[in-house]
Formats: sequence, C-alpha cells, structure tokens
Amino acid sequence: MKTEIEKVDFDLGGSRNVDSFPLLGDPKDAFPLRFPLVGQVVLITSINREKVPSLAPQSWVSIFASRPAIVGFGCNMSQPTAKNILSTGEFVINIPGAELAKKIWNVSGMETEGNKNIEKAGLTPIKSAKLSTPRIAECRAHLECSLDWTKKYGDQVVIFGRVLLASVDKKAVEADSEERYKYLKLLADLDEGIYGVIKEAKKVSPK
Ligand SMILES: Cc1cc2nc3c(=O)[nH]c(=O)nc-3n(C[C@H](O)[C@H](O)[C@H](O)COP(=O)(O)O)c2cc1C
Repeated sequence: MKTEIEKVDFDLGGSRNVDSFPLLGDPKDAFPLRFPLVGQVVLITSINREKVPSLAPQSWVSIFASRPAIVGFGCNMSQPTAKNILSTGEFVINIPGAELAKKIWNVSGMETEGNKNIEKAGLTPIKSAKLSTPRIAECRAHLECSLDWTKKYGDQVVIFGRVLLASVDKKAVEADSEERYKYLKLLADLDEGIYGVIKEAKKVSPK
C-alpha cells in the first residue's frame, strides 16, 4: 500500500490575497517558508554610460535557450544593474564559488558602483574579452552578454541576454567532472542569508 504524503496548499491568487511570490519565511506571512525553487547565486557586472562599473549579487537567473545561447535574470529596476544594462546593452554573469559567500552578502549591503568599490568588496575587476564591462577575477566562470530583450513587471524587470563569450577557469576545464564541481563549489540561494553549496557531482547510473 502507498503511503499518503500530506500536502499543504497555498493559493497565491485567491482567498489568501498573496500577490507576491512566496519568498519570505516570516511565520506572520501567509506563506511561512521560502518556496523551495532555488536560483544559483551569481555576481552581475554592468557599466553605465561613463563606463563606471557596478556589481550586484543576483539569484533569479537561468539559461533559457541554447541555440542561440540565451540567459536571463530578474532584477529590481531601482538597482544600478538594471539601469546600466538598459542604457548600455551589456552585462557579465560571473559565477562565484562558496569561498566568496561572505563577500557576496557584504556586497548586497554596500554601494558597489566603481572599480574602487568592487575592490573594497575584496574583489578584482579584470578586462572582458568582448565587452567594456569587467569580469570578476575571483569568479570561476563568466558569461559576456549583450542585451536581447526585457519585460517589466511592476518595479522589476526580466533581462534576457545573448551570450557572446563564455570563459571558465582552466583548472575546471581540465578537471574530470567530480573534481570540477569540487573546484567550482557552486552556490544556491536558499533563504534570507542562507545558501547551499554543490559539493558532490554524481553520475546517473545507466539502466
Ligand atoms: C544572494 C543574493 C541574491 C540576490 N538576488 C537578487 C535577485 O535575483 N534579484 C534582485 O533584484 N535582487 C537580488 N539581490 C539583491 C540585490 O543584489 C541588491 O543587493 C539589493 O537589491 C540591494 O539593493 P538596494 O541597495 O537598491 O536595496 C540579491 C542579493 C543577494 C545577497
């Protein structure tokens, strides 16, 4: 006999009047936990018209197509990141490892416009191969993107970019898959100030 697993339903559009995505884990909220759909923690670099760079952690990010290579992320319009990308049409998605977690959460609370401020955050801007927007040296991989399409929702915007160039640390390129993920230590944004680290890469065993 099958065991029934009890489910708790939260109607976001109806009687409970919850009109925002269930992100907050405050027990006072109609939705008492962060919904377990996680995004990878990345650092997005962008520049304004004067080529002053900006840095922001983002986690509502994913690949949306492979031919052509399209990536996208959701961002608050008030952030320099969104304004910069809308005005200059370019950005870099930098992929950090877990050793940068503390620096990433510190970036979130500080003004991060300008090379000096990126350096103040303990990170190093380096030249990109195709764009004027810098990459972050300490990150393990980077996607240099040109703006393709945007869609605004309230005070937020979804930004889609075409990947012009992808770079990965040589160590990760040359490692076998187990060693590669040990080196990359990719981060997932789980809840307010809580992250997960991918420490294990397992191969699905053939049937
Ligand atoms: C791990 C992490 C992930 C984040 N992900 C997003 C995101 O996906 N979208 C977004 O708009 N802001 C995200 N933020 C917040 C922004 O990076 C930014 O730091 C924050 O909005 C503060 O900006 P403010 O000074 O304009 O309030 C994230 C912050 C952290 C620390």
